[in-house]
Amino acid sequence: MPVAHQGDSMKVNAWNEWDPLTHVIVGRADGTMVQAPEPAVFRDWPEEGFPRGTHGPLPEAMTAAANEQLDHLARVLEGRGIRVDRPRPLDFSQPVATPEWSQKSMFGAMPVRDVLVTIGNELLEATMSFRSRWFEYLAHRPLIESYFRADPDMRWEAAPKPRLTEASYREGFWDAYDALPPEEKIARVRRGELLLTEAEPLFDAADIARLGKDLFVQRSLATNAAGIRWLRQHLPDHRVHGVTFENAHPMHIDATWVPLRPGLVLHCAERPAEEELLHHLKVNAWQVVQAATPQRQAAPPLSACSRWLSMNVLVLDPGTVCVEAGETAQIEQLYALGFDVVPVPFWDVAPFGGGLHCATLDIHREGMLQDYFP
Ligand code: NVA
Repeated sequence: MPVAHQGDSMKVNAWNEWDPLTHVIVGRADGTMVQAPEPAVFRDWPEEGFPRGTHGPLPEAMTAAANEQLDHLARVLEGRGIRVDRPRPLDFSQPVATPEWSQKSMFGAMPVRDVLVTIGNELLEATMSFRSRWFEYLAHRPLIESYFRADPDMRWEAAPKPRLTEASYREGFWDAYDALPPEEKIARVRRGELLLTEAEPLFDAADIARLGKDLFVQRSLATNAAGIRWLRQHLPDHRVHGVTFENAHPMHIDATWVPLRPGLVLHCAERPAEEELLHHLKVNAWQVVQAATPQRQAAPPLSACSRWLSMNVLVLDPGTVCVEAGETAQIEQLYALGFDVVPVPFWDVAPFGGGLHCATLDIHREGMLQDYFP
C-alpha cells in the first residue's frame, strides 16, 4: 500500500544515509547471472557448478528464495508508510556489445545502490566499471523516466559512459595480484594501483557514502582516482573525499564505512581506515564504532561478497535501522547504541549482489543539505 508520498507530486531528495526515508527502490533477483568472464572479473566456483570460464543464471530455487526476501522487505517498508518502487529486470543472459568490445552476459537488477546515487534532487547514474554491468542502468530507466516526469525539480544526470576497452584495466592484474603477500596488496590499495587504470573516470555509486555536504568515496576495484575527480568537479557544492581502507579487495564502501546518524559511523574492524579520515571525523566530534562480529563465517555460495554484509544496513530514520535478521550481534549492538531495529531475513539475497543497503536506493528522505563538518 504506497502511502506517505505526495501522490504524483513526488520529489527526489536525499542528502545523507539517515534522514527519514519516505520513498525507495528495492531491487529484484530475476534473471541474475554468474556473469561471463571479462577483463575486470572472472568467477571460479567449480563446486557450485561454475568453473572458471563458464557463466549462466543463478539457480531458479535460489532466485525464488531471494525474491521472496526482497518482496518481504518491500512489504515491511510499505507497512511503515514508505513508497517502494521496483526495477524492470532485463534478459541478463543476453550478450551485449559496444563498437569496441562484446561481452557474453550481463549481471542483474538486485543491487540498485551500485548503479545509482541520489544527492539532493539529483539522481546520478554511475559509470560502472564491469562490461557485464555497462547496460544495467536500463533496468532502472523506466522508474527514472517516471520520476523525471513527476518532479519538475529533479536533476537527472549520467556520468560519462566509459569505453571499458583493454586500456581501462591493468593487463594480467588478477594473476599478479593474487600472488602478492597481504601487506603488498594493502600498499597497492593505498597507492591506487589496482585493477583499473586512470584511462577514464570510473566509479560505482556504492563506493559513495553521503554525509550531507561531505561525500566519502572509496577508491576501489570499481572506482579509480579519475572517477573521484569527476565526482568532485561534478559536485562543486560538496566536499568529495577520496578514501581507502586496509582491505585487499575493496569494492563498495557500504560494508566498511556506514554512517548511521549525525555523529556516528559504523566501521569494519578488519578494514582499518586511514589516519587522515579518522582525524577528520574526530576533530568534528564524530564517533567511529567498530561493527559487531558477523554471525556468519562467510557469505553464501555463489556470492562475491564478504560476511561483513552484516553491517550493510538500511537506515530508516536517525533512530531506526533495518538489519539482516540473523545478525544478532549487530542487532544487539545497534540497540545498545540507542536505535530501534527492524530485523528482516535477507541472507538468501547475498548471492544476487549484497545486503539491505545494496538492494535499495533512497529516492526521498526528508531533510535538507547540512554541513556536519563545519
Ligand atoms: N564488497 C564488500 C561490500 C559489499 C556490500 C564486501 O563484500 O564486504
